[in-house]
Amino acid sequence: CGIVGYNGELDAKEILLKGLEKLEYRGYDSAGIAVRNDEGVTVFKEKGRIADLRTAVNDDVAATIGIGHTRWATHGVPNQLNAHPHQSTTGRYTLVHNGVIENYHLLQKAYLKGIQMQSDTDTEVIVQLVDLFAKEGLSTVEAFRKTLSLLHGSYALALLDQEDEETIYVAKNKSPLLVGVGDGFNVVASDAMAMLQVTDQFVELRDKEVVLVHRDKVEISTLDGTPVERKPYKAELDASDIEKGTYPHYMLKEMDEQPAVVRKIIQAYSNNDEDLTIDDNILEAINQADRLYIIAAGTSYHAGLIGKQYFEKIAGIPVEVHISSEFGYNMPLLSEKPLFIFISQSGETADSRQVLVKVKEEMGYPALTVTNVPGSTLSRESDYTLLLHAGPEIAVASTKAYVAQVAVLSIAAYVAGKAKGKDLDFDLKQELAIAANGIQTMVDSKEELEQIAEDYLKIARNAFFIGRNLDFYVSSEGALKLKEISYIQAEGFAGGELKHGTIALIEEGTPVFALATQEQVSLNIRGNVKEVVARGANACIISMEGIEEEGDRFVIPKVHQLLTPLVSVVPLQLISYYAALHRRCDVDKPRNLAKSVTVE
Ligand code: G6P
Repeated sequence: CGIVGYNGELDAKEILLKGLEKLEYRGYDSAGIAVRNDEGVTVFKEKGRIADLRTAVNDDVAATIGIGHTRWATHGVPNQLNAHPHQSTTGRYTLVHNGVIENYHLLQKAYLKGIQMQSDTDTEVIVQLVDLFAKEGLSTVEAFRKTLSLLHGSYALALLDQEDEETIYVAKNKSPLLVGVGDGFNVVASDAMAMLQVTDQFVELRDKEVVLVHRDKVEISTLDGTPVERKPYKAELDASDIEKGTYPHYMLKEMDEQPAVVRKIIQAYSNNDEDLTIDDNILEAINQADRLYIIAAGTSYHAGLIGKQYFEKIAGIPVEVHISSEFGYNMPLLSEKPLFIFISQSGETADSRQVLVKVKEEMGYPALTVTNVPGSTLSRESDYTLLLHAGPEIAVASTKAYVAQVAVLSIAAYVAGKAKGKDLDFDLKQELAIAANGIQTMVDSKEELEQIAEDYLKIARNAFFIGRNLDFYVSSEGALKLKEISYIQAEGFAGGELKHGTIALIEEGTPVFALATQEQVSLNIRGNVKEVVARGANACIISMEGIEEEGDRFVIPKVHQLLTPLVSVVPLQLISYYAALHRRCDVDKPRNLAKSVTVE
């Protein structure tokens, strides 16, 4: 979910709506705003997109203070009733919330027995509690503090008080939230992007701080009331980076940016002698570790699987890769000197953050975050950060960030291997440059890939992606892309494993995409293709120059064996994109998903 707030001199409605549009990637099943003027607080909320909310907002209501929310449903189905903002029964308090309150049931039972709840959300409990404590005689800020002290779970909150036209009450715990400062106004946002329209000066908030956002000042204090001073920083974001320009979709724009992203990474990780390099402290942390634990979710997890191959094969360091949502409670026996590597495009994924808190704060292990967002929660809370330099990624389905993750992990492994004195027989910098050109060739092959999507997926109900070795991991990512944006059920499989069960699903015409870019197993994967074709599958072999065979449907340019994922993933991204277009799916905002999931 995403939150915004504005307290200033202009009409708040438009600023809030524009801000929410920029936050839609965080959830888009319902949205709402609340504004306050002399007549009190007015709430507008709608099921659906910000565009739906926009049409529901009454232009005649003018107000200079307000809060807004775009939702990714957790408690309660996505409907208008459960959309935020939520109000207390008396109507005095109005609240937006991102996160999950774990003990909301207990709180409801303990404090709110007599109160008729209006929604199924955990959020409503918070706003009712503030109201209750205010009725018992506390000031709003005291009631807010008391409520916060009772909450277990994650939250980013912005609260309006009907009886105070001056202040937005703000707090966060585990969920991201920033305050933006301006001349004659101040704002609140889950992500700086939302408020770049009015300011580029932001103040970070820490967990359990209480913040009063007035028009002309921002007061921060700890939960027990100790004042906190913190200077704003400048958000290094270019507003033009977050526009679509002439592209019909962000996803297409972001796929097209991939060659430039790899080149930018090469540059960003080169020293004055033009050699690849990473920060000395990070290098030391990697090379002192006896084992790396890569923790990630979704596409970032798939990049982590490739990263494992790099660290093991190039640098000789053992690596485990884990899904973050499982790792927290299902931890393997750890080695003596582990280094945790969190891979996260957004740097905000709650599943990954809970692991970071556990291993770093509770167990005292060092942590490195590989992220696209400097200043993100995971980056701030880790010891070290490696940046992806991919520029803002807006489309929910990740493309350029994945390529950037793979490229940055290759550099980290290569620099670590060199420092360990490994005899590396290739120049990674040169190979990455060749890969960037290969990616360019891929994004220039749109027509061919659109045809493949049409031929194989137009009427498909399901699809399989198979590969061996590195191709297996890319197949998994290809299947995820297709699922996410076209809703075609898809599975990524190790070529050899298919016959141990899943091959039962192959029927006449079932599409099977087979990656065949790994020379040493090329014959084996081609054998697997024969097995599925014999059972009626419609197979599409994607191979690589040098090892291609007649009948291969698509051939990627030759790149270094280890870097094939950078290039081979691109045709899979584009095939998914066109399959989704053919089915008239909302490519940038697929149903049920959010780009950055800030709840566990
Ligand atoms: C969400 C997105 C995925 C993404 C995953 C991890 O589920 O829909 O596309 O891969 O989160 O996000 P992160 O920002 O941690 O890489």
